[in-house]
Amino acid sequence: METVRSMKAVRIAAFGGPEMLHLETVDIPTPGEREMLVKVAAAGVNPVDYKIRAGKYPAVREDKLPYILGRDVSGEVVECGPSTERFAKGDRLMAMPRIERGGYAEYVVIREDEAAPRPRSLDAIVAGAVPLAALTAWQGLFRHGGLKQGQRVLIHGGSGGVGHFAIQFAKAKGAYVATTVSGQHADFVRGLGADQVIDYEARRFEDEVDAVDMVFDLIGGETQERSWSVVKRGGILVSTLTQPSREKAAEGGARGVRYTVEESGADLSEIGVLIDAGQVRAVIARCFPLDRAADAQRFLEAEHPAGKVVLEAGL
Ligand SMILES: NC(=O)c1ccc[n+]([C@@H]2O[C@H](COP(=O)([O-])OP(=O)(O)OC[C@H]3O[C@@H](n4cnc5c(N)ncnc54)[C@H](OP(=O)(O)O)[C@@H]3O)[C@@H](O)[C@H]2O)c1
Repeated sequence: METVRSMKAVRIAAFGGPEMLHLETVDIPTPGEREMLVKVAAAGVNPVDYKIRAGKYPAVREDKLPYILGRDVSGEVVECGPSTERFAKGDRLMAMPRIERGGYAEYVVIREDEAAPRPRSLDAIVAGAVPLAALTAWQGLFRHGGLKQGQRVLIHGGSGGVGHFAIQFAKAKGAYVATTVSGQHADFVRGLGADQVIDYEARRFEDEVDAVDMVFDLIGGETQERSWSVVKRGGILVSTLTQPSREKAAEGGARGVRYTVEESGADLSEIGVLIDAGQVRAVIARCFPLDRAADAQRFLEAEHPAGKVVLEAGL
């Protein structure tokens, strides 16, 4: 008798609003060389998911449709492809799959160098909220920003998925952390260890913050433009959104970088160590079942809550 290899997954067949997300029955993918089939426990929901859904993300165009959404997962290895060395059947892991592989599903194929062991201190739901946001914060602060102990960083958007990890990573490094948030999130980011909290609805950060070594920009637009006035000579403005002005950087004797997060099991393992050491925690704003992925995206996009939104895959 042939083995049934179908699963439920949330796909889009065309770009548009949350109503374009459909829970469908699709084939379970087969792991290739150095890949693993993972039974998904939880999948993080990120702004990139609703940008892809709306057709506003250049890496996913019509030729990729139908497309399973979801850029991070936690789960358990159920099958290993040829030459897999670092993980075995039954291992629990977390991973940011590459963009062709969607996490809003019962199963996903993960390359072994994209994955890290699930931190012992995290349950499967919380671990599903870690990969993309934490990797973005880690790579922005350290790989691109070169943030060091004793330096000063201003983080715009400190209460969101990326920002709440960035505050904690920078503090763990021994940096001074200032952050801008809306007034409702001020206590939240103080609780994560921010040294200076600026309610951008009530005050201008330029009037509050002394010159910093690094601005980490998770907001873009006018917030990014105004940030040059607080970057030290020799400092850097790192953005997840738009390329900072080369002219403004040159005028201030500083640098500007825009980057895209990359899959990295190695970075994710280091993050897991900090989590298990109790130096960093992942905060879940809300958890939805997989079949309510549309509501989860509506919630993230409309409410911009403190911390992470996650989908539980057990249907
Ligand atoms: N380049 C990359 O590889 C990469 C990777 C990850 C994320 N990103 C981008 O980086 C940005 C931050 O990501 P995230 O996961 O931290 O997002 P998020 O969880 O949605 O957090 C964004 C935070 O920004 C604040 N905010 C201020 N004005 C906002 C507005 N008009 N809409 C939404 N939020 C607003 C909100 O906090 P307050 O209410 O406290 O202001 C919110 O919590 C997103 O645009 C995302 O697409 C890029």
